[in-house]
Amino acid sequence: MDIRGLIKDRLGENYELHDRYVNRAFVKVLRTIGFDKVYARAEGAYLFDRDGKDYLDGLGGYGAMNIGRNHPVVKKALVDLLEMNMPNMVQMDCSLLSGLLAEALVKRSPPHLNSVFLCNSGTEAVEGAIKFARCATGREKFLYCDRAFHGLTTGSLALNGSKAFREGFGALLHGHSVALDDFDALERELSTRQYAAFIFEPVQGKGVHYPQSDMFWPKAQELCRKYGSLFIADEVQTGLGRTGRFYAFEHWALEPDIVTLAKSLSGGLVPCGAILTRRDIYDKTFSRLDRCVVHSTTFGRNNMAMVAALATLKVMDDEKIVENSDRMGRILLEGLKALASKHEFIKEVRGKGLKLAMEFAEPRSLKLRAAWKLIQAADKGLFAQMVVIPLFKDHRILTQVAGHHMDVIKMTPPLIIGQKEVDRIVNAFDATLADCYKFPGAMWDLGRNLLRASLSARKAAA
Ligand SMILES: Cc1ncc(COP(=O)(O)O)c(C=O)c1O
Repeated sequence: MDIRGLIKDRLGENYELHDRYVNRAFVKVLRTIGFDKVYARAEGAYLFDRDGKDYLDGLGGYGAMNIGRNHPVVKKALVDLLEMNMPNMVQMDCSLLSGLLAEALVKRSPPHLNSVFLCNSGTEAVEGAIKFARCATGREKFLYCDRAFHGLTTGSLALNGSKAFREGFGALLHGHSVALDDFDALERELSTRQYAAFIFEPVQGKGVHYPQSDMFWPKAQELCRKYGSLFIADEVQTGLGRTGRFYAFEHWALEPDIVTLAKSLSGGLVPCGAILTRRDIYDKTFSRLDRCVVHSTTFGRNNMAMVAALATLKVMDDEKIVENSDRMGRILLEGLKALASKHEFIKEVRGKGLKLAMEFAEPRSLKLRAAWKLIQAADKGLFAQMVVIPLFKDHRILTQVAGHHMDVIKMTPPLIIGQKEVDRIVNAFDATLADCYKFPGAMWDLGRNLLRASLSARKAAA
């Protein structure tokens, strides 16, 4: 297998291949917004195209690249492992590497989170947490938050706070959502004592929202204890330093009963997920000898994932990744907040660590307001898209709109970024937003073109 030759010969056919064999709708969207680039290389916080042009990765693979892309320590550990011809996935044994990873995770967690289940992805970690919570409580229902995102398989999809993701997929397991900061709804629901668990992202992925009140998560925990529901922190995106703490729940000094991890756990190179919980909860699922594999997955403890994760945790310690996320997150937040006094389109800049969002709102000046209204009437979220495109095209910074119908841009860059990257991001937002004052002008032409593309796509689908 000449993998170098294969890539060299065929790099550039990416979008054609996907249009023919994979997800055509996605190809169309990428082409429409001009994101149809061919990347040839990636390192740290940057992607490089075939001409060697750098793109600052503001998305970090949806938060899977906390230690940066292709980290040499993780790469070396994987190559070393392959050269050792270790036995892998024997299944009817207990492998050393999965034991070591479980130990490493427990060491970095509060003492009550002393038992680990290893799997392959975020949604799989959530599915496992659902089963653990049902088994431990004997209850079936789940309480989650408006706008929540916990994955897209049918269990986690049932806990999704956006209708758009559920449309077309039929009946799902029984969940109910509450709005952030709605203390009354929270108590009203939990007091029914029907919920196996309350599941939450300490800082939400869709829109980067978290409660206004610092008491909301602690209260949720207290009510869960009072009414017998488990308290599940989904740290798939927020964990491993993303918000400037190893776990985001540390911001509120919480003690969740179950924690889910994935994404950056294995350095962005091999899929890996984990559930951490208390021994008594774990043992309710694996309660008898004949139930010892009642929850299991074939690749769950595979050597490649275990080694990548062990190496990633070592890099996090050695390079003080959590500390850098906290420090650079504060500097970036400050820099973007300073733009709010300058640009009337900015409603709010928020976030924790390097999970940040800029939300837009109607401008004050009459001329701009009319243009804004036109765009809004057609599609809420289009203005944010109008900003995302030049950030990419003119400044080579990859970002995304934070969710369906949201005028919010979200950033989850690798946690290794420094002042140079922060300056590049802040200056790019400044310049791009400055262009929005030119009406008519290139930015609003772009809005009109996006609008046309979205209308013709809707017509074609009808
Ligand atoms: C909080 C949260 N939970 C679960 C998931 C699902 O993870 P995966 O995409 O690995 O299935 C995501 C993915 O974005 C997430 O952000």
